[in-house]
Amino acid sequence: MKKIIRNGTLVSDSAVYSADILIDGEKIVSIGKNLPVEDAQVIDAEGKYVIPGAVDVHTHMDLDVGIARAVDDFYDGTVAAACGGTTSIVDHMAFGPAGVPLHYQFDVYKNLAGDKAVIDYGFHGVAQHVDSSVLEELESMSAEGVPSVKAYMTYGFKLNDADILQILIKMKEINGITAFHCENHDVVEFLKKKYVSEGKTAPIYHAKSRPNLAEAEAVERVLKLAHMAGDAPVYIVHLSCKESLEAVRDARRRGQKNILVETCPQYLILTEECYTREDGLKYIMSPPLRTREDCEALWEGLSDGTIQVVATDHCPFNFGLEKQRGKDDFTACPNGAPGVEERLMLMYSEGVVKGRISLSQLVRTCCTNPARIYGLSPEKGVILPGADGDIVLLDPLASSELTHSAMHGAGDYTAYEGMKLQGDISLVMQRGNVIVKNHEFLGKKGDGRFIHRKPYREKVI
Ligand code: URP
Ligand code: ZN
Ligand code: ZN
Repeated sequence: MKKIIRNGTLVSDSAVYSADILIDGEKIVSIGKNLPVEDAQVIDAEGKYVIPGAVDVHTHMDLDVGIARAVDDFYDGTVAAACGGTTSIVDHMAFGPAGVPLHYQFDVYKNLAGDKAVIDYGFHGVAQHVDSSVLEELESMSAEGVPSVKAYMTYGFKLNDADILQILIKMKEINGITAFHCENHDVVEFLKKKYVSEGKTAPIYHAKSRPNLAEAEAVERVLKLAHMAGDAPVYIVHLSCKESLEAVRDARRRGQKNILVETCPQYLILTEECYTREDGLKYIMSPPLRTREDCEALWEGLSDGTIQVVATDHCPFNFGLEKQRGKDDFTACPNGAPGVEERLMLMYSEGVVKGRISLSQLVRTCCTNPARIYGLSPEKGVILPGADGDIVLLDPLASSELTHSAMHGAGDYTAYEGMKLQGDISLVMQRGNVIVKNHEFLGKKGDGRFIHRKPYREKVI
């Protein structure tokens, strides 16, 4: 069945222009002015922005963190994603039992997602220890469509510098990309213990135990390790503060290549004041929320190109249940918050409407860059002939309000309750099918496909 999207304003990562889009089956086949309708079904996009289906390369569906499990499985979480205009995710696998090979979690995740996901999905591997067989497996994982791996510099399975260096060397050799959660583990553990021993157990001490410089030190260290590995591709997840941005700028100024940076809406919009509210536990995530000055620095970093990607780190736990583990001690609270459904509209309303980023920068950071960096291109992240018919219609004149009752995930809150937004998503298509119309999910459980991602290409963005 052919579909034609008429009269809309197309937004790419570099231009905004009027054109029609013809989709045949799952693929975009042509783009141009006044395309003949012939036998195609017409979708009228008059007055709407037509953007590529957004790509979220940092989610944690069904994440098992030992003390709790993220409440969105691959069905609830991808329905929420779809309703927020995201048509592809790359999910970070949870740690498995100690000592397991990389493929162990890959197999677990194929089962978690396979018959549930409603949008297309890929996975990042997770390196929880390093030895010769894990290094070999990085290559076979890549051949099987997982050319990226994540390493944590804190939490239970944190890697040391020698582990990190070996991974970076191997990933460079195989054109892979390594994502890093950057926080100085020893500093964080010391401060957590100190605050708890002083009886300082309220949520605000979560932020105080993870200061900006604990993140920036780890960012700086990992960038130096990547440089030692011959400018191995390095991707900093959820960068949250101005000092980390400076570390990135310094490394690039020195000429280091292949540095990719992600931030998330929560670090652009929310501040550590949330921790002093009655419901402060909702905002316990790592890194923590920072200050308004950090938010402004991150907007600047997005607008000047220091940051390439806005993802979500979607990892919801219920305030009414799992988050309450932290009511007497912040260290017992599972880390993470929802955000997959809110991202695109937040970035439009808080970013584009408020003049902090352009429409093309919105598309670049939420759609095109993440797809290119992580090997989902040319099928995803762009509106071009040959790409998948993954399309979002955004109505700039409508207004909306973020409220939990309108959300589609399984969690019991949104971190942005009551926030008024300019603009609204009126339609979402995945591979040529309308899967969301006027906030109603019309897709089918299990219709999402595994995305066999391609290796990282230098100068990809
Ligand atoms: O607090 C967070 N961010 N939870 C999810 C896991 C991670 O660190 O990305
Ligand atoms: Zn993380
Ligand atoms: Zn994460």
